[in-house]
This record gives sequence, C-alpha cells and structure tokens, in this order.
Amino acid sequence: MATDKTYRPSTNFSSQAHVSSMEDYHSLNQRAVETPEEFWADFAERNLHWFSKWSKVLEWKPPFAKWFLDATTNLSYNAIDRHLTTSRKNKAAIIWEGEPGDTQTITYQELHRRVCRFANVLKGLGCKTGERAILYMPMVPELPIAMLACARLGITHSVVFGGFSAEALKTRILDLDAKIVITADGGYRRGKEVALKPAVDEALQDCPGVEHCIVYRRTHSDIAMQPERDHDWAELEADASEICPAEELDSEHPLYVLYTSGTTGKPKGIVHTTGGYQTQVRATMDWVFDIKDEDTYWCAADIGWVTGHSYIVYGPLLAGATTVIYEGAPDHPQPDRFWRLIEKYRVNVFYTSPTAIRAFIKFGDEWPKKHDLSSLRLLGSVGEPINPAAWDWYHNIIGGTRCPIIDTWWQTETGSVMLSPIPGATPTKPGSATFPLPGIVADVVTMDGSSVESGGEGFLVIKKPWPSMMRTIWGDPERFRQQYWSQIPGIYFTGDAARRDSDGYIWVLGRVDDVMNVSGHRLSTAELESSLVRHEAVAEAAVIGKPHEVTGQAVVAFVTPKKGWEADEALASELREWVANEIGKFARPEQIRFSDGLPKTRSGKIMRRLLREIVTSDKVTGDITTLEDLSVIERLAGQQEDD
Ligand code: WTA
Repeated sequence: MATDKTYRPSTNFSSQAHVSSMEDYHSLNQRAVETPEEFWADFAERNLHWFSKWSKVLEWKPPFAKWFLDATTNLSYNAIDRHLTTSRKNKAAIIWEGEPGDTQTITYQELHRRVCRFANVLKGLGCKTGERAILYMPMVPELPIAMLACARLGITHSVVFGGFSAEALKTRILDLDAKIVITADGGYRRGKEVALKPAVDEALQDCPGVEHCIVYRRTHSDIAMQPERDHDWAELEADASEICPAEELDSEHPLYVLYTSGTTGKPKGIVHTTGGYQTQVRATMDWVFDIKDEDTYWCAADIGWVTGHSYIVYGPLLAGATTVIYEGAPDHPQPDRFWRLIEKYRVNVFYTSPTAIRAFIKFGDEWPKKHDLSSLRLLGSVGEPINPAAWDWYHNIIGGTRCPIIDTWWQTETGSVMLSPIPGATPTKPGSATFPLPGIVADVVTMDGSSVESGGEGFLVIKKPWPSMMRTIWGDPERFRQQYWSQIPGIYFTGDAARRDSDGYIWVLGRVDDVMNVSGHRLSTAELESSLVRHEAVAEAAVIGKPHEVTGQAVVAFVTPKKGWEADEALASELREWVANEIGKFARPEQIRFSDGLPKTRSGKIMRRLLREIVTSDKVTGDITTLEDLSVIERLAGQQEDD
C-alpha cells in the first residue's frame, strides 16, 4: 500500500477553497482541539438555526455525550426552511433521475411544500413526536421527502436498505417497535423491477405493532393492499395541507437509527441525534466537499446506508447545495450511465466507493472517454481503503489529473467524515485518508492505549467526543459501552487497524474484528453464520472474507452438513439463496465450501485465521499449536474451490 507519491492541490483549487493551506488547517484544528466547545458553538451558531440556544455545549459522561444541551432546533427546518428567505429559494435542491430515464428537479420551495404535505399525512395517521418510522424504499425523491418529514415532526426514522430481506426488515421493525412503515411497490434496477411491498407484507405478518403502511407507487405493479393498514401515498397526500411548522425539538432528540453489522449475530441500531449531528455534517460539507453555492454535487451511494443519510440528503441540503440522486445501477443501460449523468448535469463534486471505481476500471476506459467530464472539480471516495491503482485511474481518467481526491474515512457510528484530506490544503498520498479533520482527536495505538511511533501499526481510535458521534445502541447502552468504549478504556475503538507513516499520514488497513467489508457494505461473520446454522442441513458454519479484485472482500462460507445431507452443488446453491432470503441478496456467499469439520481450538473456538489462510494461499503457515484436530486442515487445504 505504501507509496511516497504525493499530490498537492493546484493553486487554482486552493485559491477558491474553504480551507486553502495546511497553515489554515492547522490553525482551525488547533482552535478546535484546544477549545472544542467554543469552536463547535461558533460554527453551529453561524451556520444553523436554533429556536432556543444551549445552556451548555457539551456534557461528557463517558461514554455518553450530549451536545448543545437544552437547545431546540429542527434539522428539516435547517435543511429547507432556512434557505427559503435567501436566493436559494428557487434553486434546485434535488435533481433526480430514475433508472428508466424519468427526471425531476425539485427546488427548495417545492421540497418544502412536498415535505410539509407528507408531514401532514403522517400527522393525519396519528404519528407523534418520539415514535419510530421504518422507511423501506427505492431511491426516489419520496425517500428523502419521508426522511425530512419525519425529522420535521421528530419521528425517529430508520431507513432499511432496499436490498434487505423481509426477515431483516422484520427484525428492525420489532427492535424499534415501529408503528408505521413507509414503502413503495418497488423500484428499478438493471431494467427490472425490484419489488419491495411483498417483503413488507411478509415482515408485517409478525409485526402486530405496525398500524399503518404507506405505499408510494413507483412501478405501478400489482401489489396487495391490506384495507385499514395499507394506504396509497398519493391518495393520502391529495388533501394534505402544505403548511406544517417544524417542531422545536431538543438538540438530543433522536433523528434516526441506522442498523449496522457488529461482531455478534444481532445488528446494532446506531442512534444519531439532532443538534450535534447537523453541526458536524454541515461542517464537513465545507471542509471535505468544499461545497459552493454554484456546485452540482453527486454522491452516488444508496440512501439506505449512512453515506446516503449524511451526504446525499442531510449534508448537501443543510449546505443549500444541489444534490443529484440517481435511482439505479451504474451499468444500465450501458456501463457509462454515471459518466452520462455527470456530463448531463455538469456535476462538479462526485463521491463514490472504491468498489464502484474498480468495477468501472473493468468496464473499460472507453466508457468515461465518451463523455465530457470537464465540469468535475473534486472527487471523493468512501467505504474501504482505496488501492493506489484505483486511485490513479480515478485521478487520471475521471478527474483528468486536475481534481483533488478526498479519501474519506468514517463509519455509521461516527455520523460524518472523520479523517480526510482537506482538498485545497492537504498533499495527498494515494491510499491514505491522511489526517483527522479539525477537532477530531484520532490516534493509532496499541492495545494498552499508547500511541504507536511513526511507521508503526495499531488500532485506529478517537480520544475525545465529537458532535456527530453515535449516542448509544438502540435499547442496549451496555453493548455500546462494551463494544466501543471498553476495548481500550475511555477511548472510542473504531474496529479498524491503521498505520502511521513517517510523515504522520494515517493509512487505514481494514477491520480487526469479525466484520467484513463487501462492496463497501458491512457484513458480520456472526450474523451470516447464525443464518447458515438455522438451515436444517447445517451442523456448523464459519464465514470469512476473501480478498476480491472488485468488491474488496467476498464472502466464503465453510459449512459442515448434518449427517444424511449430501454436500453437493444443489445444497450450496440452496444455502446461498437461504442467506439471500434471511439477510439480503448482497450478503449471499460467493463460495460455499463443505467440510466434515472446522479447525477449532481445544476450547472449541473456530480458528478463522486458518480458514483465511486456506482461502488465500491454500496452505497454512501460521501457528497451529492450539488446533484440536490437525487433519481437518489437510482436508480443507486439499479441497478445490467449488465455483
Ligand atoms: C471502512 C461507511 C478505509 C472501515 C461510511 C470502517 C474505510 C467501515 C474508509 C465503516 C476509508 C470506510 N478507508 N476504510 N476511506 N471508509 N471504511 O459503517 O473499515 O458502512 O470501519 O460506514 O468502512 O463502514 P460503514
């Protein structure tokens, strides 16, 4: 990974940037680290509306933080209403393009009307501040509209990525005790309909607490509507008023819960609140994305993940920017769809993942070369380490060597970007997320918490609370304490390993826990394993991530079938479908390897390290002295890959 090649921002870029030199970055950072409360209060006051001011900026009772205590605010107000008295009122807030090619341009005024109408729909169904709503939708404008309507009323939303199965949806509805589900008949992906409503119907069979389900008609396919419970979005909205004042919510009011994979079989509901979240997300729009009023900004993630929450919806709208939303697949109808969109909308700032970049490299340079990409001025990457080859391609072919690349490191838990180059200031090194943003006290440490020397590797940690940090795990504060704040006492443990080079640059190396990163999506080995062992044919299962050229990692499952079951291709494909049904298609194992036993320690713990070695090199070189049954290794290593 290491490379000494450094890229400095051009004077052209720096001279117009929000932060235009390393001196400016250092002085911002110094102020933010030395007097964090004044620093963040000052930013919050200048850039956001507060109905009433805070009595105190930060209360830190580790691991529980509160920001802007006793202040009242509303994120929907800050993202929309605040712009209506400025020249932005008729500016495009959202430029949307559906996969089939249908488009919508929604101005801030129009967005205000639509959000207010939908908020009144929610009120009309009896939804109240403090309740939870599940949003299971395709990438249509109605998804951000529903999010903003919830935020307006103080209904805590939880967006469930459309690729999740009925089972995963059910778990989330139950965990949150949600009374309302907002969904659609389906959406479009690669020219086909991806149905959503049937999964909702299946999930709701076991969710008696859900009183209402609102269905937006996107595809107009045939769906079942249960009288009383199910309502048509358009019908409800037809007589809804366009007047709906934003609720004055406490700064610590829970804005959303987003589930992510952890090291156990149960996903964690990451809780984000309002005041601190909106402040840091807004700040990173300036520092990281260098956002300007004249920019057309496009984050090509899915709103179902945190990147979409913070950097498709909330961040750009808080900044009064124009955010592009595209519904479908990057290669539909042809592999140049993204480049076509950039050319069509004259996109200036573009944000995507290394997995997408690697897929584009495979499609071939002829696709971007067909298009005029000269509007681009800044490129971003998120979700996994970007390998220098992908970085170079992004820089040369997409950025025409003129655009800085921001390699942004952050997590669902952190709410906003934490480490990233500042595009007008930081000399970048391909593959390094460089330095922490102003006010973020990040470090690379050993297990006892001491900083590693330059050149050393260790765990990436954050030592001080930050405004957009997760507040807890929904319903499980003890797990929050234990997983994030107890591994190294009093310090936030990210779960990532990192290296600090001799210039102080941080290189994030990947997860150190049993969480995989497939196409930038987090998957838990434990969650996959417990899904597999629920299948009647499976005696035991162990799941690992195998390096993959495009998706970063791919899922490989080692399975020991129960007696009487044939370990054949039919069972392998049945198990792959099983996982797709239980979790979602994106979690489907690439490979199932059958064995009559798994390598275990004498105390019965599966030695995943050995399995990892087997899939990467087909042999085991590491320490196997704790292994219980040596012959297992020989049998596993001798096995050919089955697909
Ligand atoms: C990984 C996505 C290296 C990391 C915003 C982290 C990265 C996990 C980077 C969080 C990056 C994210 N370089 N690794 N620039 N960005 N990661 O919660 O392992 O879906 O812990 O949030 O992705 O994934 P999550």
